[in-house]
Amino acid sequence: MSFPFIEACRGRATDRTPVWLMRQAGRYLPQYRAIRSRVSFLDLCKNPELAAEVTLQPVDFLEVDAAILFSDILIPVEAMGMELRYEPGPVFTNPVRDAAAVSALRVPVVQEEVPFVYEAITLLRQELQGRVPLIGFGGAPFTLACYMVEGQGSKDFATPKRLMYQAPRIYRELMDKITETSRRYLEAQITAGAEAIQIFDTWGGILAPTDYRRFVLPYSRRLIAALEAHGVPIIHFVKGAGAMLETVREAGGQVMGLDWCTPLGRARDQLGEEMAVQGNLDPSVLFAPEAVIEDEVRRILEENAGRAGHIFNLGHGILPMVDPQKAAFLVRCVHRLSSGG
Ligand code: CP3
Repeated sequence: MSFPFIEACRGRATDRTPVWLMRQAGRYLPQYRAIRSRVSFLDLCKNPELAAEVTLQPVDFLEVDAAILFSDILIPVEAMGMELRYEPGPVFTNPVRDAAAVSALRVPVVQEEVPFVYEAITLLRQELQGRVPLIGFGGAPFTLACYMVEGQGSKDFATPKRLMYQAPRIYRELMDKITETSRRYLEAQITAGAEAIQIFDTWGGILAPTDYRRFVLPYSRRLIAALEAHGVPIIHFVKGAGAMLETVREAGGQVMGLDWCTPLGRARDQLGEEMAVQGNLDPSVLFAPEAVIEDEVRRILEENAGRAGHIFNLGHGILPMVDPQKAAFLVRCVHRLSSGG
């Protein structure tokens, strides 16, 4: 048996375009908010039964073609020895700013430090019973470094960039440790049953292409090469990568995630037949009337022009203020319009 989502990741034709939504579990869903009113975000991530339950909420409600594990990219970073809070954005109490802080970071034995991640995956595979495939995920080394050095979200991540230019050796030692942690963290997700892996590089696009090549690409490539050896599809999503797709492509993986500022048709022309793509509706289009959503779905499918290897998705995570009915409409629209309806 084979899933349309997995087939599309492998560049093979499917009866209809598979679709899932980044951040499909979350605050826009009342059933998610109901659980969050009782437990904190971190406790939710650390409780395998509850994490599995919220993973399944959008699968049931939206009828998407893939489930994505409910967790967060910063979970393995806490296991490296950093104190993590969500307010609701992530905050590290002691950001990593010097050589001593980098040395103090541990490369955790993930099965012991974050067992709940793997327990949730095991539970989900049982509960899904082959209904849709399960995507595991992690942050790309650079995006994790951004939060670890800055200590929180930022517009320009000037602190990690300063470290990169002023103390490149410390930066590289940090990136080595993060890459090794991520390799262990994601290989164990595959072993536990994740059927595809998405790497989120939310901040990779804040660098000039030449700096991306120097400071980010070697680490993402090393991580993806290790994961590819396990045979599951790897989706590489670098937000803001439109002007450097050929460079990002060198990191490997089967699927390139595209944000909405990157024209999908042009990206496909550039990347060629071998690489599948995922994307790329502007998440805020879900605020528009249904007729506008439908037009946008049609436009993106037309840009893809019937080529195999397209997974429909948003160009970034779904926004908390979105009406869940609009998200469900989007999924139905993709299925209907891509199967000739
Ligand atoms: O896609 C899914 O449904 C799986 C769950 C998922 C979460 N975070 C849950 C979450 C995934 C794939 C992530 C990835 C993630 N986390 C990224 C990369 C993707 C992206 O959006 O750029 C990043 C940068 C993070 C770090 C992070 N975690 C931030 C910046 C925030 C705050 C954002 C916000 O909306 O307030 C979080 C918290 C977080 N992660 C929430 C969820 C559902 C909201 C927590 C809550 O319930 O209050």
